[in-house]
Amino acid sequence: MLKIFQRLRDAFGHGPEYYNGNLIQYFDDLFKQLENKLIDPQKAKLKVNELFATNQDLKTFFLNSYCDTKKNLKIIGSKVRLFNRLRFGIISLEENEYEPIHYHNGFISFQIVLAGKCILNEFDKISVKGKQVVFKPYENQLLNSDDVMLNFSKFRDIHGFGAIDGPVKILSIGKYYGLFGKFKFSINNRWYLDMDKKKQINKEFLQTFLIEEEEAYKKYSKIENFS
Ligand SMILES: [Fe+2]
Repeated sequence: MLKIFQRLRDAFGHGPEYYNGNLIQYFDDLFKQLENKLIDPQKAKLKVNELFATNQDLKTFFLNSYCDTKKNLKIIGSKVRLFNRLRFGIISLEENEYEPIHYHNGFISFQIVLAGKCILNEFDKISVKGKQVVFKPYENQLLNSDDVMLNFSKFRDIHGFGAIDGPVKILSIGKYYGLFGKFKFSINNRWYLDMDKKKQINKEFLQTFLIEEEEAYKKYSKIENFS
């Protein structure tokens, strides 16, 4: 523990408050600005990108302190409040491993690539009726270190991402809504889309069906299986 605090003090001259307080405060403010439409989502992404690109020590801190894991998602910190919860986690993907396309309910998150190359597929959720989902696709993106993903109900709330040319480490900073951030009910609260069954329904929108998590991972957890 002392070693971590020492590293932070060296990196920021702020002492341990930076991670325990300042970084939480920073994302708390940014999430609130997004909720209240006081900042454009693209601008918010750029802000976070700049924070990490100009503080390489911050990135090194997370990589050195928390990334020695094979777990797909390692929770590294949470702040639970009465009506929401902030969660810091590290997502690790092996080369060609893919997180199947999904959306979350009651959730907003930034994901920062700490190391590696990541392909990102993003969509806007237009409607869900029963198991049927209508969504709008965007061009595939290639993310490098310091690049940022953002997803929430008003911006690219459906996504899938994977590691190419080697493993990827991602810092995920999420805010969960609901009583105590619903921390007792689920970790991820994810809903997966069956992309093999997608069809174009008009110029802009696609349609497909929800599938169970187990099936989603069976079909779509490798990049080569995904088109
Ligand atoms: Fe997600």
